[in-house]
Amino acid sequence: MSLKRILVTGGLGFIGSETVIALLKEGYEPIVVDDLYNAKEVVLDRIETISGRHPLFYKIDCCDERALEAAFKENELDAVIHFAGYKAVGESVAKPTKYYSNNLGSALTVLRLCNRYRIHSIVFSSSATVYGVPERVPLFETDPLRDATNPYGETKVMIERILRDAAKADPTLNVALLRYFNPIGGHPSGLLGEDPNGIPNNLMPYICQVAVGKLPYLRVYGDDYKTPDGTGVRDYIHVVDLAEGHVATLKKLEKDPGLVVYNLGTGKGTSVLELVRAFEKANGIEIPYKIEARRPGDVDMNYANCDKAFRELGWKARLTIEDACRDAYNFQKKNPNGIE
Ligand code: UD1
Repeated sequence: MSLKRILVTGGLGFIGSETVIALLKEGYEPIVVDDLYNAKEVVLDRIETISGRHPLFYKIDCCDERALEAAFKENELDAVIHFAGYKAVGESVAKPTKYYSNNLGSALTVLRLCNRYRIHSIVFSSSATVYGVPERVPLFETDPLRDATNPYGETKVMIERILRDAAKADPTLNVALLRYFNPIGGHPSGLLGEDPNGIPNNLMPYICQVAVGKLPYLRVYGDDYKTPDGTGVRDYIHVVDLAEGHVATLKKLEKDPGLVVYNLGTGKGTSVLELVRAFEKANGIEIPYKIEARRPGDVDMNYANCDKAFRELGWKARLTIEDACRDAYNFQKKNPNGIE
């Protein structure tokens, strides 16, 4: 089976846009869908600057079945990579209905349309959050799904279950559930990167805004975790590596279809303070910080075992934390007010 034309929902977002670049580089034909809720249309121009290609774009909310159907009808699609979804953990706690409606609604719409238009391959953007509060690290794909600590995470668990059931009911349906650990960094050109609205929730964009003087200092949420230096440990993966993981997954589905689950991380844990030091070293800049109270819902350690992805996809992360710190800062400096 050859997969060529790939519908990429949420294709102008942080991970989606980087994946579009990776697809173009490998000769795939991405067709981008995004409702611009959390992305800018100008990202298309940036994709063109980087790749020399301007992908076909539909400004569509994936919950709008009739509108999304046009993208299926007008293109002979071979596969869908479904990134589109809301992702702010705190907001999901305050507005659970918004998260369940949108994230489940868009996934179900994509699934229905794949069924109707006989698209047999779906790659889903899942998260390490499906492992909930881990009993031990590293995390393996065979570890149980646990109650996520927030509605955002719960939508990822639910969509994984929905896609598994759909694959069980239809043996011709190939599903890849990709569990991302903590994506950071940006395109080395500085044209694409993480562009959060308002004050960032996640660590790397926060550090970047401190680095350029937009925020006065980093708040380190707790230094009394059961980790070597007391600060939280995560598995930070460069977004370019992560994007390449999607291409490797499509190649796997081409030759060996079925239902597959992969952790996409580096296999290595890094603490908050280690990340701060790596950022300082990579960019020659000091990051002031203050130790503060723990953030509710955070866990001590969360990192992946990624042997399965290497074994079955031949994929592994090749970029370092320093590369990611350099690329994230480069993006921040070139886009002080985000992508405009
Ligand atoms: C969070 C989400 C996760 C989601 C992921 C997306 C939670 C509980 N989890 O992961 O579901 O998939 O983002 O990227 O929100 N930290 C600070 N100061 C800050 C920000 C973070 O010290 O200003 C620390 C945190 O305590 C944690 C680490 O940095 O130890 C990473 O935090 P973050 O970047 O928010 O990612 P996660 O919480 O791992």
